[in-house]
Amino acid sequence: MNQYIDFNSTIYPFLSKPALLGKDEKNHYREKIKRLLKQQDAVMVAHYYTDPEIQALAEETGGCVADSLEMARFGNNHPASTLLVAGVRFMGETAKILNPEKRVLMPTLEAECSLDLGCPEKEFTKFCDDNPDRTVVVYANTSAAVKARADWVVTSSIAVELIDYLDSQRQKIIWAPDRHLGNYVRKQTGADILCWQGACIVHDEFKTQALMRMQGLHPDAAVLVHPESPQAVIDLADTVGSTSQLIKAAQSLPHQKLIVATDKGIFYKMQQACPGKQLFEAPTAGEGASCRSCAHCPWMAMNGLQTIVHGLERGGVQHEILVKEELREKALIPLNRMLDFATQLKWENK
Ligand code: 13P
Ligand code: SF4
Repeated sequence: MNQYIDFNSTIYPFLSKPALLGKDEKNHYREKIKRLLKQQDAVMVAHYYTDPEIQALAEETGGCVADSLEMARFGNNHPASTLLVAGVRFMGETAKILNPEKRVLMPTLEAECSLDLGCPEKEFTKFCDDNPDRTVVVYANTSAAVKARADWVVTSSIAVELIDYLDSQRQKIIWAPDRHLGNYVRKQTGADILCWQGACIVHDEFKTQALMRMQGLHPDAAVLVHPESPQAVIDLADTVGSTSQLIKAAQSLPHQKLIVATDKGIFYKMQQACPGKQLFEAPTAGEGASCRSCAHCPWMAMNGLQTIVHGLERGGVQHEILVKEELREKALIPLNRMLDFATQLKWENK
């Protein structure tokens, strides 16, 4: 059986962070990015976990701030010839697989994801080959090579619905890489799921006991949890969902106080969605004391104004996403299945 890798202790200390910038420097880079986007016919596609200043700039310049499913959709539908993806590498790769004719740039190609890193192609292929009777469903947080081995790609916003559908077709499933999301989906659907044992280093840090203490202090608060969190944390949730689903829930729930168990980058858009409400970060192992467990993805944090300028100005091996055509064609099949399924769901729920 595959093993869970503890990235917290091995990788964290070696990650580079964007330079801290003063107010004037930030203004300088913001203006420069706006000029470069126009010059290069480029549009920004940013994830909710990037820094608020990046999210604000993406919105101001006609780009998008979204969850991983909507990021994939936006790039697909936008006419710009260059996509500047502010997020982590699998998001850039997904954009490239779906849009081979476009140039896809990133602030840094070193922005990884513990789920992607914890699911190497070779081991995963063997895992699938050892279980040939199972439909292979992989989370979007995987490499192009792992996607190419899959029957379906899925994101957290439609995971329960997709597995429910496959279960109704009596299909047995391999789920990879996130063990918590896999367990959550199994519990929701009752499907027969064999799960790869990966984890997100950010969500894995949320702690039940400390969360219960916080609920004791704020008994009138609702708890919002991303399903990459451990099951015991999910069990305390009022709402479980993808980043965009959590933002919608923050807006629609009657509660004035919300305890949020996901990357704190989401607070920027969540607070905009419900300006009068009080948002609290759910407690992690270090409860804010150490940057190893501060509810902020260290790879998302590698996206900065300066690195966006570098991406747009320099391109090349440090910034441009390239995917071999043969691999791209294979990975495109399960990705398109996901997009078609998501479109059908949206249509049915109207
Ligand atoms: P969403 O699909 O909910 O945006 O999640 C992506 C991610 O990386 C969560 O950690
Ligand atoms: Fe990956 Fe977790 Fe970072 Fe999301 S928050 S990109 S799942 S490491």
